[in-house]
Amino acid sequence: MTVTANATSRLGARELTLAYEERTVVEGLDLDVPDGRVTVIVGPNACGKSTLLRALGRLLKPARGSVLLDGEELARIPTRRVAQSLGLLPQTPVAPEAITVADLVARGRQPHQRWWQQWSEDDERAVADAMARTDVAALADRQVDELSGGQRQRVWIAMALAQETDLLLLDEPTTYLDISHQVEVLDLVRRLNHERGRTVVAVLHDLNQAARYADHLVAMKAGRVVAEGRPSDVVRAELVREVFGLEAVVVPDPVTGGPMVVPGRPWEG
Ligand SMILES: Nc1ncnc2c1ncn2[C@@H]1O[C@H](COP(=O)(O)OP(=O)(O)OP(=O)(O)O)[C@@H](O)[C@H]1O
Ligand SMILES: [Mg+2]
Repeated sequence: MTVTANATSRLGARELTLAYEERTVVEGLDLDVPDGRVTVIVGPNACGKSTLLRALGRLLKPARGSVLLDGEELARIPTRRVAQSLGLLPQTPVAPEAITVADLVARGRQPHQRWWQQWSEDDERAVADAMARTDVAALADRQVDELSGGQRQRVWIAMALAQETDLLLLDEPTTYLDISHQVEVLDLVRRLNHERGRTVVAVLHDLNQAARYADHLVAMKAGRVVAEGRPSDVVRAELVREVFGLEAVVVPDPVTGGPMVVPGRPWEG
């Protein structure tokens, strides 16, 4: 299955192979991230989702093949230009010690700063906007390492948003969040996408959230893309079995009408 026929793609991978020393994790992968859409990557633990996202964000160099941004090899584009186009929130980001929330979010503005102008009104606005949208404004003066897991995750999302890039890569942005903050963050991602035309690639574990929020769903297994396309085309019981080894039924989501995965009966003894 492929992307809707006329979708263009600024970011993609060509025969991409990724490895950690001897261990190959992703092999010969081709991907076109559709512009102005929300792409969600799903797949079992250790199948290479984070590895792929890190390569798309230039945190990891391809062993073979390439990542292309606007037709250019990502590895050859100056760091600053990459950072102005592309924001990446890793799965487990590490904050500098004793940094406040406001200071961490402000770091998202670094790619936009110049030596003659360290901080502009634009920076101020972007930071305030990102903090308001992620509901962390009240935490501004707190230290990041003193926050709860969910608060910290929203602060990282705020930092990525403050970067105001056209392309946003988010690795499990909802993992530590309670259900209402999960929905809030995913709605926010959709809103950014719709109102500002942002292209988003997110790794999610919850298949039902993936089906609800993705325009384009990519299912990975053992470092390869097994299926991709619209959730309504891709999410089927056979795919869940093939990718996750899980027996499940797929029924219409009572709210959206899209596919909803319901795992088989729990163990009852
Ligand atoms: N820095 C590293 N050095 C060596 N091996 C690594 C490194 N990071 C990841 N790996 C290995 O690469 C494989 C893929 O890891 P990756 O983090 O991409 O998986 P994932 O699909 O994101 O999984 P999860 O759902 O658990 O986050 C795993 O076998 C992992 O052990
Ligand atoms: Mg991961």
